[in-house]
Amino acid sequence: MKKVVSVLLTVLMTGTLLVCTGCGAKKQLVMATNAEFPPYEYHEGENIVGIDVEIAQAIADEVGAELVIEDMAFDSILTAVQSGKADMGIAGLTITEDRLQNVDFSNSYAIATQVIIVNQDSAIDDPDDLGGKTIGVQLGTTGDIYAEDIEDATIERYNKGFEAVQALLQNKVDAVIIDNEPAKVFVEQNEGIRIVDKEFTVEEYAIAVKKGNSDLLEKVNKAIEKLQESGKLQEIVDKYIKAE
Ligand code: ARG
Repeated sequence: MKKVVSVLLTVLMTGTLLVCTGCGAKKQLVMATNAEFPPYEYHEGENIVGIDVEIAQAIADEVGAELVIEDMAFDSILTAVQSGKADMGIAGLTITEDRLQNVDFSNSYAIATQVIIVNQDSAIDDPDDLGGKTIGVQLGTTGDIYAEDIEDATIERYNKGFEAVQALLQNKVDAVIIDNEPAKVFVEQNEGIRIVDKEFTVEEYAIAVKKGNSDLLEKVNKAIEKLQESGKLQEIVDKYIKAE
């Protein structure tokens, strides 16, 4: 009898365990990012915060999932999305033809420009002045791609945008090509550097998902649309970007 009871118990417990696998645990939505890009994603104490993080949270709510943030090197983000290691790449990612070969992009949620940061006393005042110069960029960004087209330029690639700015402060590079909003943050936080008035290019930020993942893409677009129509997106932007 004792044996029967214990076998019964075991069967019952195993059954319960099987049924309850994943019980209560919300499904996860993994966001790949590179939190070196204020105000879109950056570290604040132990947390990763920013415009993209709040957008990602809204998408997770739409999907009914728990948001998990994976912070990685910028040039690993698209691979993580392609391999399924992450569900979506949200990192101030510019839509480009090349990237569209490897991932699908959502509708755009922000317009950005590439700008040039130089030392206060620099003679560089236009993208055309960059020929032959040493240019600092974050590895794998569109700034990196544009720098490649500049005649006779030497490109110094850094893992973080801010490292390129530090190189500029130390006169190791003549200029940094980077997105306008992080540029504003870095210039504000450091004496002696300025943003060149003439911009490089205009770009659109969007969210990357694995090619063919139309189910998630649809939910991402729906979340973006809701954020835009309710005015919530503007609220998020205003929270992180103070009007000049
Ligand atoms: N917009 C640029 C690009 O897509 C730079 C993005 C950098 N983002 C980041 N989180 N570090 O290449």
